[in-house]
Amino acid sequence: MASMNIILFGPPGAGKTSVGKALAARLGREFVDADPLIEARAGFSIPKIFSQRGEAGFRRLESEVCAELAARDNLIIAPGGGALLNPANRAALERGGLIVCLRADPAALLARLQAEGNRPLLAGDDPAQKLNALLDSRRALYDSFPEQIDTTGRSVPQVAEEIAALLAPRALAVNAPGLQHEIALGYGLLNSLPVLLAERGFTGPTVTVTDENVAPFIVHRSPLIVLPAGEQHKTLDTIRALYDAFLKHGLDRGGLVIAVGGGGVGDMAGFAAATFMRGVRWVNVPTTLLAMVDASLGGKTGVDLPQGKNLVGAFHPPSLVVSDPLALNTLPHGERVSGMAEVIKHGVIGDTGLFETVEAGEAFGNVEQLRRAIAVKARVVEADPFEKGERATLNLGHTLGHGVEAASGYTLRHGEAVSIGMAAECQLAVRLGLAEGVTADRVTQALARAGLPTTCPGLDPARIREAMNSDKKKAGGRLKFALPKRIGEVTWGVEVDEALLSDVLRAIAD
Ligand SMILES: NC(=O)c1ccc[n+]([C@@H]2O[C@H](COP(=O)([O-])OP(=O)(O)OC[C@H]3O[C@@H](n4cnc5c(N)ncnc54)[C@H](O)[C@@H]3O)[C@@H](O)[C@H]2O)c1
Ligand SMILES: [Zn+2]
Repeated sequence: MASMNIILFGPPGAGKTSVGKALAARLGREFVDADPLIEARAGFSIPKIFSQRGEAGFRRLESEVCAELAARDNLIIAPGGGALLNPANRAALERGGLIVCLRADPAALLARLQAEGNRPLLAGDDPAQKLNALLDSRRALYDSFPEQIDTTGRSVPQVAEEIAALLAPRALAVNAPGLQHEIALGYGLLNSLPVLLAERGFTGPTVTVTDENVAPFIVHRSPLIVLPAGEQHKTLDTIRALYDAFLKHGLDRGGLVIAVGGGGVGDMAGFAAATFMRGVRWVNVPTTLLAMVDASLGGKTGVDLPQGKNLVGAFHPPSLVVSDPLALNTLPHGERVSGMAEVIKHGVIGDTGLFETVEAGEAFGNVEQLRRAIAVKARVVEADPFEKGERATLNLGHTLGHGVEAASGYTLRHGEAVSIGMAAECQLAVRLGLAEGVTADRVTQALARAGLPTTCPGLDPARIREAMNSDKKKAGGRLKFALPKRIGEVTWGVEVDEALLSDVLRAIAD
């Protein structure tokens, strides 16, 4: 298993300490309860720290202890109940660790607290009300952790087992002739990258390519090439600079390029690897949600031209994709939300269960959600590696979304534009009699629930329509749409009457 800390969090009575001890025993690791450590540090009990130094004094000690524990490795940690309310403590612990939020029904929590006895929370005449007030005030925090385990009615060993299962890496693959690549997905795998490479016999000269936003998070073991961040740098000039850097670092035909970053870095490093010395091997380490579930899969690489996006490129699959969900912890909120558009898209294309978890409001970026979203794309690419047919279903939301993206002057993020495109294309599907109204409603609600826009008031419908024309994916001069029939099934190659299209464009821009 990869090396990292595992942090157990959740409301009082959820089992952080008992599960933590059981998990530590199961994995042969050390368990650390933060509160006793704080008491030992201060030399007296927590109530006394509060009375002598005030809450601020306690919180200071708590932050010190969190930072110390975060700097160590392979621990099972139970931080205090309020420790992660401080975003700095959370960020420190998430930097090299997985936070698992243990939950239970209020009644189960109360019963456990009563069985333990003697908790300050139970003092007073209405403990249930006190507990509910605490749960309400922290619900948003608890909900924000991607990994959630409901411990209601489960034994301590069962919960420990479930956490251990979360830690096991998942092996996936795109099995298509000419596009074959394997995908290793799992918490902490970034730390294991040297082992993963050695296991596969990658021993030649190696360079790592990243961008300026991701570079600070990389522990680099090979020469690091840092590109400027942003789509405006996804150009042939940057590729030229990459060739220079490859030569400077002695990369040869037996060498390896490692890309660590979002889809931009992957597309550029992959294209440089495809063309440098007629092709060298590369490994893709996606660090955005969009790149993990979409851009890193399927072997497409390339750059933009002033005339349009992705106009130059090559199919050159990476030898390996390594996706570590912990990399998503530093991703800005807007980028995460944007990536959810592609997760939802993959649910609509081919995984009803995945769609339902998003519909139910599950936090994004947990390992099972990623596995399912990756599996949908892998299956579609396997069925149609070189986009002769079914691979076009991956364009769901994109035909219209690209128009919206361009008409907004690229002020909308890709995922936001795709979300608007998906909602609008669902309307097209309903108007064409392909899908029922309820399907469109569910998709639109799931997108909104994930924090994505589904309309673009103020954009000019004519500009959107005009921008859709420059989409290189239009076949034979005609616009073709991928449209949903129901959740889990999408059809492609659909032509849409102009009057209907302009109706729907007017409706979303109203
Ligand atoms: N090859 C394909 O099949 C394919 C498919 C879809 C999209 N794409 C391409 O992918 C690109 C979009 O991908 P993207 O959304 O990942 O864009 P991106 O690479 O531009 O990353 C988005 C932003 O997040 C930053 N970032 C990345 N990882 C981070 C992390 N872990 N912590 C903090 N910041 C981080 C980046 O520096 C950047 O500012 C586009 O160029 C698109 O054309 C390619
Ligand atoms: Zn997309």
